[in-house]
Amino acid sequence: MAEKTFRTILTSGKIFQKGVKMELRTVNIGIIGLGARAETLLASIFAMKGILISAVCDLRQDRIDRILGIFEKHQAPRPKVYTDYRQLVADPEVEAVFIPTSWNSHLQIALECLKRGKYAGIEVGGAASTDELWQLVRASEETGVSCMMLENCCYGRNELMVLNMVRQGLFGELIYCECGYEHDISDEVGWHVEDHFERALHNLRRNGDLYPTHGIGPIAKILRINRGNRFLTISSHATKARGFAASRERAGKSSPYVFNEGDVVTSVIHCANGENITMTHGISLPRPYSRDGRVQGTMGIWLENAKGIYIEGISLKKEVLDDAGNPYWTHTWDPQEKFYEKYDHPIWQEFRDNVIGGHGGMDALAMSAFLDAVRRRVHTPIDVYDCAAWMSLTCLSEQSVALGGMPVPIPDFTNGKWIDRAPEPPSKWSLDEVYAE
Ligand SMILES: NC(=O)c1ccc[n+]([C@@H]2O[C@H](COP(=O)([O-])OP(=O)(O)OC[C@H]3O[C@@H](n4cnc5c(N)ncnc54)[C@H](O)[C@@H]3O)[C@@H](O)[C@H]2O)c1
Repeated sequence: MAEKTFRTILTSGKIFQKGVKMELRTVNIGIIGLGARAETLLASIFAMKGILISAVCDLRQDRIDRILGIFEKHQAPRPKVYTDYRQLVADPEVEAVFIPTSWNSHLQIALECLKRGKYAGIEVGGAASTDELWQLVRASEETGVSCMMLENCCYGRNELMVLNMVRQGLFGELIYCECGYEHDISDEVGWHVEDHFERALHNLRRNGDLYPTHGIGPIAKILRINRGNRFLTISSHATKARGFAASRERAGKSSPYVFNEGDVVTSVIHCANGENITMTHGISLPRPYSRDGRVQGTMGIWLENAKGIYIEGISLKKEVLDDAGNPYWTHTWDPQEKFYEKYDHPIWQEFRDNVIGGHGGMDALAMSAFLDAVRRRVHTPIDVYDCAAWMSLTCLSEQSVALGGMPVPIPDFTNGKWIDRAPEPPSKWSLDEVYAE
């Protein structure tokens, strides 16, 4: 496939193959779960071509009415409406399903999709047990159908540029990484216990890394987890929990709840190839947003919080004076933007001037990767083994916290395949290798 711009692919619905212009086949998608996330996905979908939302489903009539209003506003064809997800999944017109429901329901619904031979696009979030993940893995293996987590951050510009630079060898051999989700959403979550908002209840009852995948997804791909590497153990510690109560008090709300979720949960994941990853979760204390990205090897480092990259032999060392006035050389950060021109991932080289859709374009890119796999009936670039490994970190970190930080083994969901798995077929959307075409 050779194509001038991704905007052209995403919005004109045209692709070029061996010089011949071809239409992108339109994929019929059903959406189950019509909350805030479905609305942001729709904002991107209405800017894309090659996708038709032919059915929607929610348990709540108010959510259905609201989403139908959005279709009307965009003059989009009215989808079929269901309140029972099984009926949507059984609908022969629906080829594949997006599932932005809730953390307690999406894996069950994805399982139903796989059993019926339909690709499932689940949203981010962690698992309640490894058992539900094994069920998903077995269903995907038995049916050959893919379950993709629509982990939009895997298609972030910086994450993809670092992947590209790592694969070109600029970081040398990888040694250590960091990632996280540090985002003050104490109001969105902590103020809604009384409304039975599911995410609030998770934070009330549980204590572990409840939202690992925005951070760990890109890092797992960079470290080749499930293809030549794997997570071995996780050790997690949680601080005391004060943030949600403090946030409620600041807003003048009573605070009758005792939240279990520690304000900062820190996990260390050890990998089979010897790398360590420190992963941080914190959503209840005031602070600016960060996914805490850090990728460090024998030749260089990317540090999201410094917005910088240092590569030995490329980045500058500066002469400075110590307290006694003696000169010495110190390493200095290059701004990460300095590398965009030369090292932007091919996806972003084509997308950067014409970004469409939510979350800085990442949503449209993740959905496009999913749709491409559905059209070609190949596995998605984030597959069921990735979903299982990443999502297991939630329930396993809970176990480790409960055990005072003891390392907990992480299952090998590939059952040994990670040692010598065949490379995935080349695809522009691959997150394992970087393909220009
Ligand atoms: N990738 C991202 O950047 C991003 C951003 C926000 C949210 N999310 C994820 O999206 C998901 C949804 O988030 P949200 O804020 O829209 O939640 P929400 O609670 O507002 O909406 C979920 C909807 O799913 C419906 N639902 C639940 N179970 C159902 C079932 N069995 N059948 C049919 N409908 C069902 C609910 O009635 C509700 O309308 C979560 O997993 C969240 O973590 C991802």
